[in-house]
Formats: sequence, structure tokens, C-alpha cells
Amino acid sequence: MSVVEEIKERLDLTDYVRRYVNLKKAGRNFKGLCPFHNEKTPSFFVFPESQHWRCFGCQRHGDIFSFAMEYNGWDFRTALEELGRLAGVEVRKMTPEQVRAGEEKERLMHLLHEAAEYYHHLLRTAPQAQAARTYLERRGFTQQTIDEFKLGYSLPAWEALRSHLLTRGFTVAEMLKAGMLVERERGGTYDRFRDRVMIPIRDRKGRIVAFGGRVLSPDAQPKYMNSPQTVLFDKSRILFGFDKALRAIRENDAAVIVEGYMDVMIPHQAGYRNVVAPMGTALTESHLRQLHRLTRRIILALDPDAAGIHATMRSVETAREALERRWEPVFNAHGLIGYEGRLDVEIRVALLPDGLDPDELILQDPARWERIIAAAEPIVRFYFHQLLQQENPREPKGKARIVEAMLPLLQDIPNPVEREAYAQEIAMRLGLDPVLLLDQLRARERVNQVHRRQVVERTRPLLAEEPQAFLLKVLLHYPHLLESLDISLVRDELHPVEDEDFDGPYRFIWNAWLETLADPGVELDDLLPDDLAAQVRQWLNTPLPEASEALWLREVRRALLQRRQSSLRETMRQFHLLLLDGPGEAREPIDETLLSRLNELRERLRRIQYVLAKTLNPRLERRTYGG
Ligand code: UTP
Ligand code: MN
Repeated sequence: MSVVEEIKERLDLTDYVRRYVNLKKAGRNFKGLCPFHNEKTPSFFVFPESQHWRCFGCQRHGDIFSFAMEYNGWDFRTALEELGRLAGVEVRKMTPEQVRAGEEKERLMHLLHEAAEYYHHLLRTAPQAQAARTYLERRGFTQQTIDEFKLGYSLPAWEALRSHLLTRGFTVAEMLKAGMLVERERGGTYDRFRDRVMIPIRDRKGRIVAFGGRVLSPDAQPKYMNSPQTVLFDKSRILFGFDKALRAIRENDAAVIVEGYMDVMIPHQAGYRNVVAPMGTALTESHLRQLHRLTRRIILALDPDAAGIHATMRSVETAREALERRWEPVFNAHGLIGYEGRLDVEIRVALLPDGLDPDELILQDPARWERIIAAAEPIVRFYFHQLLQQENPREPKGKARIVEAMLPLLQDIPNPVEREAYAQEIAMRLGLDPVLLLDQLRARERVNQVHRRQVVERTRPLLAEEPQAFLLKVLLHYPHLLESLDISLVRDELHPVEDEDFDGPYRFIWNAWLETLADPGVELDDLLPDDLAAQVRQWLNTPLPEASEALWLREVRRALLQRRQSSLRETMRQFHLLLLDGPGEAREPIDETLLSRLNELRERLRRIQYVLAKTLNPRLERRTYGG
């Protein structure tokens, strides 16, 4: 039995959910107000028999692990550890190597915590920190915020922190590892941060993993000095303010992304707590993935200057080059739209008034900030509107350039309905015939399809086993198949592969694998508990039978569709259970929608079965795609 199964066997979902949700009996099941979206009548159900939960309002569902992850904003590793502790199951037997690494991390976090206390104490009491105190006051910080974020001050000295930490029993080697000292070329070390306002950077659990330090005088350079990448601090994953924003992000069902430290702290102080910032770098897929556990709505609050929007954005391509700044990759529209589709998030852009950062804006006029955030536009529309300002949409050449720039972005939208709707909108706005634009879009797609269309032979399945396991195994061997698979699904008007396609341990493996795709520095082994890691290693060490890529694509399609088919059937079974539960209260809040939902599911099932039949029968396939 795997660790996951063991935990599930020992913990009861109903008991667990009860810790967070007030549940009432509803026939054989339980219901309550959904903790994942705002509602007045309960549509959140727990099914003790199958140990599953489902919200008939927001459609979220899953097992005890997915509940714990969604509710607490945990990644699977954390969920595993926390639930493991609760169940009294030893989650990982760590190698001595791992034990040592874990202990070292603890020690370094302790060191950073001490450093933060030290800086904070200086800020509060040291005479030398007077300028820093005045500075923070001028920037609008209250004492409460200074304490909450534990802001501090580093003395203008070369070894103040080092001396302090030595008295606390830390070694120079540890200070170097934690990024707090810099090594001199000719030997020796000095404090990295001097005469700066110190801002502790925390991980999702609120543990300090790094610092940012701001200069006090306007012309000193660099404006911000940050800790280097360390074992604790990975810039591509950390979001500043995340630990304090978790709850608000879930409650508001939206996360606002800003650029800088100040732009996080001042909004928090003003009560806008769903605000986070990347570390002066691009927004990465890892960032989005973490946010996605709490909300599907991401709002980028951008300073128009940083966006380089003014004159530079001739087309998206040139914009990309022009924006080789810290925020540049955020403006890789392809990337973001790709994320949108893959992660099933909605990315909007809120444009701030010229020259005003969120902190300044909020201190001046909070209502204006709210208006700006509320007016955030979907990213595709945002680009379109930028283009309208840069090109002359009344000139034929201007129109052509706008269409030229928008087509590739439209193509990146995986949902065909959404894609067509935007195409129509753009055509209308430019005074063009929508048919023309849609034709161009389809023409581009056809070119891609010809590329990919391959005659698929009809053969027996290559490997017979559990569809989810099969799918993961093949994807692990041929990672690039994922893209072809997604494209083929979207072409059939189905969702690209998503979290929902996996459950239990398979979802862990899937998520962990995606993380390794997003970040080549991460090893699958490190992200998975031992038993799952062993499973994955075994998959990877078993060679797959020889077969063409087309054949593998067909096979993963088959596995995925079979999986979707059976999970849809399970969902429908849950619906039926509710109906069967008779005239109990279970029915009343959902009755009106229940039947239409059931029909919807039936439709989806039918669609999947049709595509599945097509996949298994290439003659059908050719007829559909051949035209
Ligand atoms: P900004 O230059 O927009 O600064 O950098 P800011 O946040 O508005 O800072 P204030 O208001 O002038 O104090 C945005 C973010 O980019 C990173 C920091 O994370 C900063 O918050 N940055 C900026 C650096 O890492 N180093 C720098 O020298 C400048
Ligand atoms: Mn600023």
C-alpha cells in the first residue's frame, strides 16, 4: 500500500472536512457551504462512501488530499506531510543525505530569523536608524506594518551582522550559505547589506528565506540589493507577500500581482491583502501554479512605464524585444496566454496611471485603486487595446498590422469558443468582416494541422494498464507528446490535459512532473515522496515498446479519454446518489440545476465517447480531419 493510500485509509474525509466546514447530514451524505467560493445556500457535498467531495456550485471536487491542498493552499508535499502527521503515517523515510539537507535548511532559516530580529531591533532603537525611520514614515508606513513585515535596518558597517551572528553561535560558513555575507576576492568576508532598509522575504509558510534591502538616498545604487539564490531562496518560486496574502486571495477569489516590495506592503496596510510580487523577475509558471491553487483569477497591476507600452509596442514581437527589462517575460503574451490555457486561469491586466506605483496610488486615493483593479481587462483584449493606440486602426495598413500581431495570440487561446469570440470582437472593432479574420485564423491552423496530421494505424493498445498510470508513464518518456496531445484535444473541442484528469497519487506525480518541466533545476525525485519517486523511477527504467510517435500520440489520447470517460461516469453516479437520497434536504438547494447539470455531463460524456471512437477507429479519424 502506498503512503497516500495508507493515509486515506486512516483518515475520514468527513471528519477532516468538518474541521473547516459546518456539515449537515443530507441523506447518506453531508452538505455545507462551499469553502472555495462564496455562496448562501450549501452546494458543497461530502460523500462518505466514496470518500469524495464535490461542490455543485463551483465544480471543484476531489479526495481528502485535494481538499487539504485547496483549502490550505498547500502543495502536495506539504499536504502529504501534514495529513501524514495527522494519520500517524511516516511519510518519508529520508536518506541520511536528505536528513542533513533538511537540518541545514532549518539552521539557515533560524539564522535569517535572528538576522531579521537584529535588523528590526536596530530600526526600532538605534540612533543611526533615524534616517531609515523617517524614510519609512515618509513612504506611508505605520508602526504596525513595520512590525508585521518585520522591517529593519542594517548599519553602515562592514561586519556588524557578522559579529552579531557570531555571538549567536552561527558560523561564517553558514552566513555565507544564507547569503548574508559576501566573500572578498583576497579572502575574508563582509556584510552584504549595509545602510539599507531591510525587508524580510518569506516563503509561503511565513519563514524568512531572504532579504531585500532598499537604499535611503535617491541616487545610491543599486536601489534594491537582494539575497542571492540560496538553498532557501529560489527567486523563480518565491512571491513576496504570499504568506500574508493566502487567505485574502482565496476569499477574494483573485490575486493581484504588482512589481515591488512597497507595492505589496502598502496595499496590505490599506486592507488590500490579496497582493503579491515576484522578486523583480518574470512571473514564472511556478508562481502561477502556486496562485492557481487558491484562485483562477490573476490580475497584473502594471505600471505603464515598466510595461514599455508607450511607443515601443509596435507589435507583440517587438514589444518582447523592447521589454528586455526585469519584467520583460511577463509581457511575453504567448507565454501568458499559454499559461492561461494550460493552467485554466484567467489573466487580466490593470493599467496604472502613468508614473504612479500602487503604493503611491493607494496612499493618495484607495478608491481609485479599486476602480483600476475592477477595470482590469483580459490579457488578449489588453494587447488589442494597446495596439489600437499604437497603430492607426482607420488606415488599411494599420489594420493589417494589428491583425497580423493579434493572429498568433488568438491562436494561443486553447478554447475554440473563446478564440472565435475574440476574433469576432477584433474584426468588429476594426470594421472588418469577421469571416475574413476567422478564415485567416483557420488557414493558419490548417497549416499547423497538415504538419501534424499523420495516418494512424489501427492496432491493439501498446500497453494495457490503468489509464492514468499509462498516460504518465508515456509522457515521462516522451515529454514533448504533451503539447501534441493538448493540441489534438483542443482541436476536438476538449480541454487540454488538466489536474482533474488525475487523482490521488497520480495527481501528485502529474503536478510534480509539470513543475520539473517549468523549472529544469528541479528533480522529480525531490518533489515526490519515496514510494512515488520509486514508482516513477521504475517507469523510467522500463523501456517502452518501439512505436512511431503518431502511435504513441494515439495511445495517450486513448488513455486520457478512457480516464475522462470513467471519471465522468463517477461524477454522474454522485449526481444520481443525490437524487436517490430522496426527499431529504440534500435536494432542495440544487434541485433546479441538478438536472441541467446532469444533462451537461451527459453531453460531455457523449462528446468524449465520440472522440474516443474516432481515436480508436482511424477511418473515422481520417474522415473528420481529412477535409
Ligand atoms: P522598482 O524600480 O519598480 O521599485 O522595482 P519599487 O518597488 O517601485 O521601489 P520604490 O517604490 O522605488 O522603493 C520593482 C522591484 O524590482 C526589484 C525589487 O524587487 C523591486 O521591488 N528591484 C528593483 C531589484 O531587485 N533591484 C533594483 O535595483 C531595483
Ligand atoms: Mn515604487
